[in-house]
Amino acid sequence: MTTPSIEPSRKLRGIRRGVGRALCRLDELANPGSAAYVVKRGATRISVFVVRKGDQVFCYLNSCPHIMAPLNYQTSGFLDADGQHIQCSYHGALFRMEDGACLEGPPSQQCLTAMAVEIRDGLVMPVGW
Ligand code: FES
Repeated sequence: MTTPSIEPSRKLRGIRRGVGRALCRLDELANPGSAAYVVKRGATRISVFVVRKGDQVFCYLNSCPHIMAPLNYQTSGFLDADGQHIQCSYHGALFRMEDGACLEGPPSQQCLTAMAVEIRDGLVMPVGW
């Protein structure tokens, strides 16, 4: 079994719990805020992003269901100007932060692909991946 690793390295020395490593510390994320990560599992790289809303953090594959482009293709962030929704920078689709459902835009009824995370000891941890 290969141990997953997270890029970019955040120098979270000594932090390795369960089956994965922390994506980040909760207090590193603005509120509301977002950040992108690439998780390596052997030869496979999984591009994900997290969004924070209050004390909740949600994680999704960084792939818009419209044409599978990275949501941050043209910007560095994932939230709209008000910080209330996830916004795809390619064609502007809006998604609900809590479940990734498309609220407006070309993906229509499609949802972002959720990746389970939990907050443990102030760390955002992948769950089961
Ligand atoms: S690629 Fe995201 S809305 Fe078109």
